[in-house]
Amino acid sequence: MGIQRSLLLLGVMALCWSSSTASNVLYTGGTLANNESIGLPGVGSFVMQQDCDLVLYDNNGTVLFSTNTTGPSRQNCTLSLTNYGRLEVRTPDSELLWNSSNTNSPNGSYAAVFRPDGDVAIYGPLHWSGFARGHNMKTEKEQELLGNIPTVNNMLFSGQVLYGNDELTNGLTSLKVRDCELLQTWLFFSWPLVSVQGEDCFVRLNFRGQLTIIDDTGKNSSALPTAANPTKGEYVLILEGLLARIYGPSAWSTNVRGVQPIVHLMLPSDAQE
Ligand SMILES: *[C@@H]1O[C@H](CO)[C@@H](O)[C@H](O)[C@H]1NC(C)=O
Ligand SMILES: *[C@@H]1O[C@H](CO)[C@@H](O)[C@H](O)[C@H]1NC(C)=O
Ligand SMILES: *[C@@H]1O[C@H](CO)[C@@H](O)[C@H](O)[C@H]1NC(C)=O
Ligand SMILES: *[C@@H]1O[C@H](CO)[C@@H](O)[C@H](O)[C@H]1NC(C)=O
Ligand SMILES: *[C@@H]1O[C@H](CO)[C@@H](O)[C@H](O)[C@H]1NC(C)=O
Ligand SMILES: *[C@@H]1O[C@H](CO)[C@@H](O)[C@H](O)[C@H]1NC(C)=O
Ligand SMILES: *[C@@H]1O[C@H](CO)[C@@H](O)[C@H](O)[C@H]1NC(C)=O
Repeated sequence: MGIQRSLLLLGVMALCWSSSTASNVLYTGGTLANNESIGLPGVGSFVMQQDCDLVLYDNNGTVLFSTNTTGPSRQNCTLSLTNYGRLEVRTPDSELLWNSSNTNSPNGSYAAVFRPDGDVAIYGPLHWSGFARGHNMKTEKEQELLGNIPTVNNMLFSGQVLYGNDELTNGLTSLKVRDCELLQTWLFFSWPLVSVQGEDCFVRLNFRGQLTIIDDTGKNSSALPTAANPTKGEYVLILEGLLARIYGPSAWSTNVRGVQPIVHLMLPSDAQE
């Protein structure tokens, strides 16, 4: 009962937040229209404008990328991310005006991410999806409400590490490193996602789509998922509702800042199969 009430409260809060706060990711099946956007405060936004242009702005309102798809009396177009990982701008009559150029991505779940460097990149397909559905999350409606929670510090990109007091959170669930365990927390529950024997451990997303926990000597480590993706590239872990999910490799980018990884630090293990 208490938990159900908390859930209801969270759901209501989620609805309130999502109407006022922009989110930084669009998933497969998601759409944007009528000036809806993804973005990050202080960095910029990627807007599906009502005039049918899809535009990437920086924080000062400067246009960094645009699909140039306006037209006489053209209005109300929709941006969607397909299950082949392509962004598409379509008219209300479903005419394709623009699509991202990645043509070889397989069927799956993708994420178009507004990155902290101000570019938008498509990651996927979904490589790993972690436990995180609470025991009382029964209905789809609840899941939907919870999934709408806006996101801050909700991602970890290839090369980035979590240690000490670092925390990833989407306002609903969080990840942090404690005593060589990567703990996921939801309400007053915590459970380990991955752990290793050792001291002063840190967690890192590698360039094969694995979340690794490594002890300070570098000798002991374990990885989630245990099998590395054969494709080397840039991946992203996203806290999505109550799930921790890894998408990648990156398939397309607005590429305004250059196709650099967010973090340049690579470990020798990144090169292994
Ligand atoms: C979209 O933005 C334009 C330009 O700011 C504005 O004129 C228009 O009313 C907006 N449309 C909606 C549906 O918010
Ligand atoms: C925005 O403009 C200010 C001053 O004009 C400049 O210092 C800053 O670098 C600009 N920011 C971006 C993201 O271009
Ligand atoms: C849109 O137009 C601008 C200016 O002409 C051009 O630089 C840019 O490449 C165009 N965008 C696309 C996606 O073709
Ligand atoms: C766009 O949507 C608005 C509001 O729903 C509607 O009034 C307008 O006629 C639409 N325009 C087109 C070209 O579909
Ligand atoms: C869609 O993408 C393909 C591959 O890049 C390209 O050949 C085609 O012209 C694009 N279509 C539109 C309408 O942008
Ligand atoms: C793509 O994947 C979805 C979900 O896994 C499935 O429903 C659909 O049939 C697949 N489409 C094709 C063309 O394989
Ligand atoms: C590494 O793990 C082994 C057991 O798997 C353990 O005996 C050893 O103490 C660990 N090394 C460190 C530095 O903790």
